[in-house]
Amino acid sequence: MVEQLEKISKDALTALKKITDATALEDFRIKYLGRKGQITQMLGQIGHLPPEQRRAAGQLANKTKKKITEAFEQLKRSLLQSQQEKSQELLDVTLPGTAVNVGKTHVITQTVNELLEIFGRMGFAIAYGPEVEDEWHNFVALNMGPEHPARDPFDAFYIDDNTLLRSHTSPVQIRIMEQTKPPIRVVAPGRVYRPDTVDATHMYMFYQIEALVVDENINMVDMKTAINQFIHAYYGPKIKWRLRPSFFPFTEPSGEVDLLWVDKHGKEDWMEVGGCGMVDPNVFDAVGIDSEKYTGWAFGFGIERLAMKKYGINDIRLLFENDLRFLKQF
Ligand code: PHE
Repeated sequence: MVEQLEKISKDALTALKKITDATALEDFRIKYLGRKGQITQMLGQIGHLPPEQRRAAGQLANKTKKKITEAFEQLKRSLLQSQQEKSQELLDVTLPGTAVNVGKTHVITQTVNELLEIFGRMGFAIAYGPEVEDEWHNFVALNMGPEHPARDPFDAFYIDDNTLLRSHTSPVQIRIMEQTKPPIRVVAPGRVYRPDTVDATHMYMFYQIEALVVDENINMVDMKTAINQFIHAYYGPKIKWRLRPSFFPFTEPSGEVDLLWVDKHGKEDWMEVGGCGMVDPNVFDAVGIDSEKYTGWAFGFGIERLAMKKYGINDIRLLFENDLRFLKQF
C-alpha cells in the first residue's frame, strides 16, 4: 500500500507538470482526486487493512492527498491567471480599430448631385421624366415627325410601335411644358438609351442633364450666360469652352458646346458635351404655349462626358464596369 501510494503520488506530480489547459486539468482532477479517483480509492481501502497498519497508512494517504491537492490548486490558479492575462491582451482598447469597408455613391451619382446643386443655386427646379417614353414626347412634339431625317442620330430602342426607351432627356421638356405655364426654369437629369456602337466615348446607355427656360423676352444671350456660368461653377475659372453652330429639329438656332480637352500627352482637342438652342416655335405650338408671347432656350449635356473632363477619365466604359479599384478613387 505504501508503495502504491508513493507511485500514485509520483505519477500524479509528473502528470501535473505536463498540464497546460483547463480541460487537461479537469481530467487530472477526475483521475486522481475525484469520487472514483485513485487517491479516494486508496483511502477507501484503508479500512480493509490489518488494524496495526491502518494508522500509518491513513496518515500517508492523507499526506499524499494533501500534497497532490495543493499542487493541483496551485496549477489551477496559475492557469487561471495566465488565461486572464491573455484575455486582457485581446481586449487592448488602445489598439487602433479595424477599418470597416463602407460603400459610397457612384461617381455618376456624385456628379448628378453636384450638377443639381449648381443649377439649384442658379434658380433651376428639378424635374424627372420616364425612361420608357412614347413617340409623341420623344420625337413628334419635338418637331420630329416619322419622316424627319434628323431622327437618325436619335435612333432608339423600341419596345413596341409607339413605345421606346427615351433617346434623350428632351421629352422631359415636353412633359414640363404640357403641365406648367411659363415662366419655366428646370433641369432634368436621367438615363437615356441609344443603339450606339460602344467605344471610349459612346455607350448604349448614358446620362444627360436637360435644361429648359421659358419666359417672355428670353434670348440667346441668356442661354450663353447660363451655360458659361454653369461651366465655370463646375470646372473653375480656367476652363475653355466654345459654342459652335449646329442643328436640332427642336431648337432654332441650335448650337453645340465643346470643352477644351487636354490629353495625357498635352495635346489639346475639343470634346462635344451636348447640344443647345432656342426652343423652336413648332415645339411651343405642340404643347400649347403661345410662341408669339414666349421664347425659351434649352440644352442637353452628357453627364459622363462632363465627369470625364472633370476627373480626367479617358474611357466612358470605366464608369460602367463596376471595378472597385476604379470606383474607390472618387
Ligand atoms: N437632345 C439633344 C441630344 O440629345 C440635345 C439638345 C437638348 C439639343 C436641348 C438642343 C436642346 O443630342
